[in-house]
Amino acid sequence: MRSFFKNLVGQKILMAVSGLFMTLFLTAHLLGNMTIYTGGLNAYAEQLHALVPLVWISRISMLTLLLLHIYFAIKLTLENRDAKPVGYAVSKNIRSTFASRNMIWSGLAVAIFIIYHLLHLTVPAASGSVSLDSMGRPDISGMVVEGFQGGLVAVIYLVSLLGLLLHIIHGIQSSFQSLGLSGEDAAPVIHRAGIIVALVLSAGFLSIPLIIFVGIVKG
Ligand code: HEM
Repeated sequence: MRSFFKNLVGQKILMAVSGLFMTLFLTAHLLGNMTIYTGGLNAYAEQLHALVPLVWISRISMLTLLLLHIYFAIKLTLENRDAKPVGYAVSKNIRSTFASRNMIWSGLAVAIFIIYHLLHLTVPAASGSVSLDSMGRPDISGMVVEGFQGGLVAVIYLVSLLGLLLHIIHGIQSSFQSLGLSGEDAAPVIHRAGIIVALVLSAGFLSIPLIIFVGIVKG
């Protein structure tokens, strides 16, 4: 097991698996957030918070995956830089693109965004400082609407979600490549699928601050 963590292919596999699991978390998170359009966000948040063990298992798993992902991203980037011009050991089918060359920077933007986002929305939600709605539930919807009133917040989310878009576009195809699931025939399909998933996630998340900023959804 120790040799797996020390081996370049093992580290790429860990990056791939952690990245794909975090993408799954984001998909579930987006679906949950979409309930803001139907006025169901407070009910959804209440049901989610009732599943206490599940919420904490998810939080601890996501944090572990995130830390692993960041640790190996920095390690592989530094090693890759030292190894030039030999370059990437396992990326034969992947062309160099703007997204692939800037993974470390788009990843850094996403990491900074996650800290900002947790302080912006999760800490108030978890600390119980959120006011209650007419049904006596924590008013997560009101908190989100209030949190996205300012133009600066919408700009921060816009820039961060562009980082997320670039990161996932390359991350998905790179993950499949690392897992050995992206042969000659599958590579173009996975490339396109990566772009679609990245676009759907980024546009879906971005739609929330935007519709609140322009006043379509009110608290
Ligand atoms: C603009 C769209 C987004 C909205 C409206 C939103 C909303 C929220 C809210 C309300 C919470 C607190 C949930 C609660 O405790 O009841 C939360 C937690 C969280 N969000 Fe977001 N989010 C958005 C985008 C994102 C993105 C793009 C990421 C990651 C890149 C992300 C990662 C997280 C994480 C890691 C948590 C903590 C989950 C937990 O406490 O278990 N969110 N989000």
